[in-house]
Formats: sequence, structure tokens, C-alpha cells
Amino acid sequence: MYLLAIFDKHETQIMVKKQQTTLKCIADTLGISVSTVSRVLSGQAKRYRIGKKTEGAVLSEANRLDFSPNQLARSLRLKKTHTLGLVIPDISNPFFASMARSVEMDARKSGYAVFLCDTEERTDIEIESLRLMQGRKVDGIIISPVGQFGDHLTKLHKAGLPVVIVDRYFPGMSLPFVTSDNFNGALDGVTHLIENGHQHIACIQGLPESAPNIDRVNGYKAALSEHGIKPEESLIIGDSFSEQNGYVSAKRLLKRTKRPTAIFSVGNVLTLGVLRAIAEQGFKIPDDISLVSFDEQPYSAILSTPMTTIAQQNEKMGQIAVSLLFRQIENTGNLDCEGIKLPTQLIKRKSVKGI
Ligand code: RIB
Repeated sequence: MYLLAIFDKHETQIMVKKQQTTLKCIADTLGISVSTVSRVLSGQAKRYRIGKKTEGAVLSEANRLDFSPNQLARSLRLKKTHTLGLVIPDISNPFFASMARSVEMDARKSGYAVFLCDTEERTDIEIESLRLMQGRKVDGIIISPVGQFGDHLTKLHKAGLPVVIVDRYFPGMSLPFVTSDNFNGALDGVTHLIENGHQHIACIQGLPESAPNIDRVNGYKAALSEHGIKPEESLIIGDSFSEQNGYVSAKRLLKRTKRPTAIFSVGNVLTLGVLRAIAEQGFKIPDDISLVSFDEQPYSAILSTPMTTIAQQNEKMGQIAVSLLFRQIENTGNLDCEGIKLPTQLIKRKSVKGI
């Protein structure tokens, strides 16, 4: 443990001893156990069902003694830092922001802090972030990988560090994950377009290697095939979840002689680029082109043409990820290859026109 290197054994023992003396002093004053005092001061009163009255008494006594638990001493004693690592590709993306918020709120309820790293959709930064978190001795990691490859994650898990994958999982990897049922979400969205008469439907995809993208593109193809429409590879374009990819891909589609009558966009940020391209070309939604987008967004309903979206359960995904991680940290139940796919919801609005 790197942090130990800066404290010699003697100093560490003094620090821990002082800590324990003060905890006992508060406990004796209030006539309660040291463990109750420790649990209140580590933010775990709710988790251990300690009453508000006791919690208040402990906090005011600690305040009177001007005492704040030394997390380093506590970590050394418990061999736990009560910190979770959260690694995500883009915190500015509302999908990840809402999921990260639910992770932090649930972790806090159990007295855990969250150490967040944004990987900028880059695997090299992802690997560096994981190394940083191991050095800080986080008790476990929740990660939405960039999604290109995951060997480094398997190594972490095999080294004994609890890891849960959220959203961009790796099929066949023995790591617990929670994601959306992306295949059926896409199937529902594209079927909605077909039921409105569209046959020439383009798909603007995100990161081709990532599992959510693969599942969504397969759902798109399945919807076409189920209605006797042969999927055309030339109508599936795009290479990342970025706004720029959505913009460039949509511009290319709109310039085609035989323009698609509808676009299925595989992600929220992608769709911003698609909207920009459609507006720039002077086209109107849905008069000139219909649009269905994966990911419900705060703006989806208030756009000049309210958008038809496929909503993921972002917050619930974060909550389940925290629960799966705590089960690993507390070693309750074999989780190795538990995978959870949450249903999505098709929200029909005015961006799809019957033709
Ligand atoms: O733009 C974010 C997209 O990538 C979301 O659809 C989410 O599923 C992530 O994989």
C-alpha cells in the first residue's frame, strides 16, 4: 500500500491509538458501544439502522471534542478505504452523468466515497485510471469501459479487486455486468419506423466494437428482416458515439441521391450531430426525414419536433452496479458471470411521420 510508505510503523500505531481512545471516550460519555460511534462517524448510521437521536448525539459530541475521524488511520485498521472507483468514458454525456450520480448517491448511503475518472472515450486513459485507483486502494471499481477490449479488466478481477461493468459489457467475459437490453430496444424503435411505412431506414452507429452498439445494430437488422426488408450495409454508417460522427454521417446520408426516409441514431450525443446536420441542410423532421434516437434526454420532449426515443434506465443501472459491487466487496454470493440486461422503453413522439 503506497500510502503506508510515508508513515513508519510507530507513527501509525500512535495515530490509530489516539483514534481509538477518542472513539471510546465518546462511547463512554454517551453510554453506547465504540462500534456505534465508529459507524456514525463513518457515515454508516443508515446502513446499520442507528437512530437519528443516537446519530445526532455522537456527531455533536465529536464536534464538541473537535474530533474528525482520520480516514487514513481507519483505512489502515480496517484494511478498507470505503472508497469506490467509478470509471466512465465521458462525464459530459447526460447518459453517464445521470448514471454516475446514482452511483455516488447509493455509495454515500453506505458510507462510501466515489473516486471518479473520465477516460475521454480512450482505452489508454482507461488503463491509466485503473492503475491510479489501484494505487489509491479503492475497495472496488464500477466501470463503463470504452468498449474496444477488456483484458486489463479480467486481470484486475483475477487479482482479487471487485469489479462491475456497467453499460458497455464484454460478452463471454466472467465479470458481473449491468446494461440495457439494447437489442430489443433497437428492434422496438426500428419496428415503429417500419409500422409507419418506412423501408429505406439508415442506421448511424457508435463505436462499432462496443457491445451496446453491436446489439443495437443487430436489433435494427432484425426489425428489417422480420418485415421482409433486406438490411443494406451501405445504410449502416458511423464509427464513434461522438456528436461529430453523428453530424458527418448524417450529412453523407442526406446528400445521397436516394435519401433515406428515416434515420435510427444509436446514441444521445450522436443524435445532437444528426440534428445539426438536418438543420444545416434545411430539412424538417419529420416532414423530410423521420428520426428515432437511442437514449431519452432532458431535451427530447421540448425540441421543436419532440423526439421519439428509446429510454434506458440510467439511474437504475447505476444502483444495480453499486449493489453488485457491494456483494463482491462483502463476498456474499458468487457473482462471477452475473449479467443483468434492463428493459428499455420506446417513447413515441412527433419525430416519426407515417408515409
Ligand atoms: O452516447 C452514450 C451511449 O454510449 C449511450 O447510449 C450508452 O449506452 C453508451 O454506451
